[in-house]
Amino acid sequence: MKILAVFTFLSSALAATTSTKTKTTTTAAASSCTFTSYPQLSSYKSCSSILVKGPFTVPAESVIDWSNLRAGAVVTVSGTITFAHSTSLTKSDYLWSIGGAGIQFLSDPTNPAILDGNGAAYWDGLGGNGGVGKPKMLSIKTTSNSLLKGIKVLNSPVHCFIVKASDTTIDSFIMDNSAGDKPMSSGITYGHNTDAFDVSGTNINIKNSWVHNQDDCLAIKTATGVNFFNNTCIGGHGISIGSIGSGDNVSNVHVKNCTVQDSLNGMRIKTDAGSSGAAVSGIIYENIILKNIYKATNSDDPPAMGICIRQDYKNGGPTNVPSGTITISNVTATNFQGTVTSNSFGNAYSTFILCTPGMCSDFQFSNINITPKFSNCTNISPTPIGC
Ligand SMILES: *[C@@H]1O[C@H](CO)[C@@H](O)[C@H](O)[C@H]1NC(C)=O
Ligand SMILES: *[C@@H]1O[C@H](CO)[C@@H](O)[C@H](O)[C@H]1NC(C)=O
Ligand SMILES: *[C@@H]1O[C@H](CO)[C@@H](O)[C@H](O)[C@H]1NC(C)=O
Ligand SMILES: *[C@@H]1O[C@H](CO)[C@@H](O)[C@H](O)[C@H]1NC(C)=O
Ligand SMILES: *[C@@H]1O[C@H](CO)[C@@H](O)[C@H](O)[C@H]1NC(C)=O
Repeated sequence: MKILAVFTFLSSALAATTSTKTKTTTTAAASSCTFTSYPQLSSYKSCSSILVKGPFTVPAESVIDWSNLRAGAVVTVSGTITFAHSTSLTKSDYLWSIGGAGIQFLSDPTNPAILDGNGAAYWDGLGGNGGVGKPKMLSIKTTSNSLLKGIKVLNSPVHCFIVKASDTTIDSFIMDNSAGDKPMSSGITYGHNTDAFDVSGTNINIKNSWVHNQDDCLAIKTATGVNFFNNTCIGGHGISIGSIGSGDNVSNVHVKNCTVQDSLNGMRIKTDAGSSGAAVSGIIYENIILKNIYKATNSDDPPAMGICIRQDYKNGGPTNVPSGTITISNVTATNFQGTVTSNSFGNAYSTFILCTPGMCSDFQFSNINITPKFSNCTNISPTPIGC
């Protein structure tokens, strides 16, 4: 297989040389590479055009580290790439890392890309908080007008798309962790901490994507300029900013035309209790459809909330005692339509706001139609519509 890769490389280099023969100047031949098995992938650095052709399996205890792609490289993935179950990888590992400037990471429309993370082999209901080690799925460290399009992930072990990028667009991604919903006999879910998009960076667009998971659909940490348009989020914890601690400044976020269904929250902004040295500002959530915001299991999770803004997070959970000096300002929520559902696992709030006195300001809410109305808003003045 290795020999085949070298042959493919040489023949394409030769072809490039031949085709430039008639020109008076020659530039370094850009090579196009086709990879059909795991061992071939390590020669990615010289390739400007790469076809990754499944099906094949990435062996246990192995990852694809393409964090240093050639500038402008176009990677097309065709068919299914399966990641064998590993016992030594942990949440600081990524099954596939993509990095570079002006990168395109695309799915072959005639044979769509599926990255199978083998999640069920890892799921123990503990996610990143314990149990067996679980690698994250896809690290995206791209810059300079990069485009990632059409990639489907099936069964991510834990967090799925870890975006630390600038000037990058993610279009038509799918994360299908629906198999992780199945209740275990003890009542906890199989998949846990299966965040879809964990986003930090500058000028990041995520659009036309579909997620079914068991944690945040979007979680923004340290970022400015995030657009999240026309995405569907099912089964998880909603479209979130935070949790925000020192240094996690977030500004200029626009969430538009999204549907959140069968999830614990719709829109959520959370800051850590007692924290300082960060600010959340310039946030717009617009045209949001909520379908059945509810608490799915008898877990330690807080009650379900259509709109949730709270400043009482600590060690990953809320304390009901807000504190700290992180400000949340200039927040627009407009045109929310839908339902929240109370059940035996807990009441569902249409809107819940819990601010530290003086830390929330300039909330502009309009056309909030989340039913049945059940709200509790603390330390925010004037009281927003929907409270
Ligand atoms: C919204 O995203 C879906 C994919 O989930 C796509 O089919 C649809 O065309 C998109 N709508 C617009 C207006 O782009
Ligand atoms: C949002 O939806 C409206 C109405 O369907 C559509 O006109 C607009 O183009 C959409 N915008 C985005 C950014 O998806
Ligand atoms: C983050 O926000 C804090 C509080 O407003 C501010 O003091 C700090 O300078 C900001 N940091 C950056 C990198 O913008
Ligand atoms: C409020 O946030 C919006 C969206 O980021 C921005 O366009 C607007 O300038 C901000 N307004 C103020 C007063 O900062
Ligand atoms: C509203 O929430 C605050 C803070 O958690 C709590 O102290 C208060 O009792 C709640 N009010 C109602 C009516 O539930």
